[in-house]
Amino acid sequence: MNTWAKWLRENEPQRFNMATKHGWDAFAQSAPRPSLERLTVEKLQTLSDDEREDYNEARMVWNANPPAVKTAQLNNAFDVIEQVMASNRRDGDRLRGSVVIDAAPALGKTTIATRYAREFHRRTLRRHGPSTREGHQRLPVAFVPLDAGITLKGLNQKILSFYGHPGATRASTSRLGALAVDCVRSCETQLIIIDDIHFIDFKHRNGRDVSNHLKGLANEMPVTFIYVGVRLTEKRFFDEGLIGEDASYAQTSRRSTRVPIAPFSISSDAGFRAWVQLLSTLESHLILLDAAPGMLVGHAKELDRRTQGCIGSLTNLLDRASYVAIRNGVERITPEVLAAATGDNAAETSARAG
Ligand SMILES: Nc1ncnc2c1ncn2[C@@H]1O[C@H](COP(=O)(O)OP(=O)(O)O)[C@@H](O)[C@H]1O
Ligand SMILES: [Mg+2]
Repeated sequence: MNTWAKWLRENEPQRFNMATKHGWDAFAQSAPRPSLERLTVEKLQTLSDDEREDYNEARMVWNANPPAVKTAQLNNAFDVIEQVMASNRRDGDRLRGSVVIDAAPALGKTTIATRYAREFHRRTLRRHGPSTREGHQRLPVAFVPLDAGITLKGLNQKILSFYGHPGATRASTSRLGALAVDCVRSCETQLIIIDDIHFIDFKHRNGRDVSNHLKGLANEMPVTFIYVGVRLTEKRFFDEGLIGEDASYAQTSRRSTRVPIAPFSISSDAGFRAWVQLLSTLESHLILLDAAPGMLVGHAKELDRRTQGCIGSLTNLLDRASYVAIRNGVERITPEVLAAATGDNAAETSARAG
């Protein structure tokens, strides 16, 4: 077996299911991939067909998985989360605040929440060990992604299935809630991420039930919640679907701290510098054999036009552009390669309109 086939076996894309404790722990404990050799164009020509195919495949895996970049958006969000987590040190009888990451799709919300939680998970296990004093598995973090039409029962089931609790499919709604509180307490969970919370319709009665239940859980569980979703202000997450004067009585708004995530914007000097910094970090990760420094930075304006400063659209476009550059042998990001790479639908539609 050639080196790259071996690398591929050991470093294939990981399909963690972060919605379970095993998948979450695997994600949290995963080490970065060992780096790949950057061959010269001449050396590439001397490889056998199989070797070249495997090397290119290995590079595709590598290129598609840049480490999370410490953008200003990420640093700022971490800072707010840390501030809110300061109250996580309160004794169990006192209420903790929650963090709400609220922004448009593909701006890095889930990335921010999961990277923060990953560090928290590792740090807590390092300090306190893998089991609790009572001998349960210690699970500092629970990750609970929601989907469309989520119900109260469904929410409790999702929490329980994170813990692999056998009762997840059977018990009644209120029993499920009690079991969820048990899991959280016995595994000493301190941080719960509820992702894609925009699937709850806060204006609808069912949605209000779910949101009241979440408030109840926050009262009963000694944890900090991070809620993540799209357009939560408009969806009346903070005022719990209440209108007019009633809205000011909504507890959620007093208990939660909103973290907006802005897209990059090159219209100011500082914004342009941040965009260039991001491109240069991503550029240094890519393995293309004819790459020269500034390969991406040189296209800063065009990349902004194609992606509207949205980090998710940028990584999509770069995955595709580096695929094109490898496939057609250009081995560099050029204007032609960028033109041949298709962006995601939102990015393409906006780029055409703009
Ligand atoms: N800090 C980051 N560094 C590198 N890539 C990022 C970062 N944040 C987001 N991305 C890219 O953007 C994509 C979308 O991010 P995600 O966190 O899923 O967005 P959201 O939850 O807001 O929809 C990710 O798959 C990743 O490719
Ligand atoms: Mg997300």
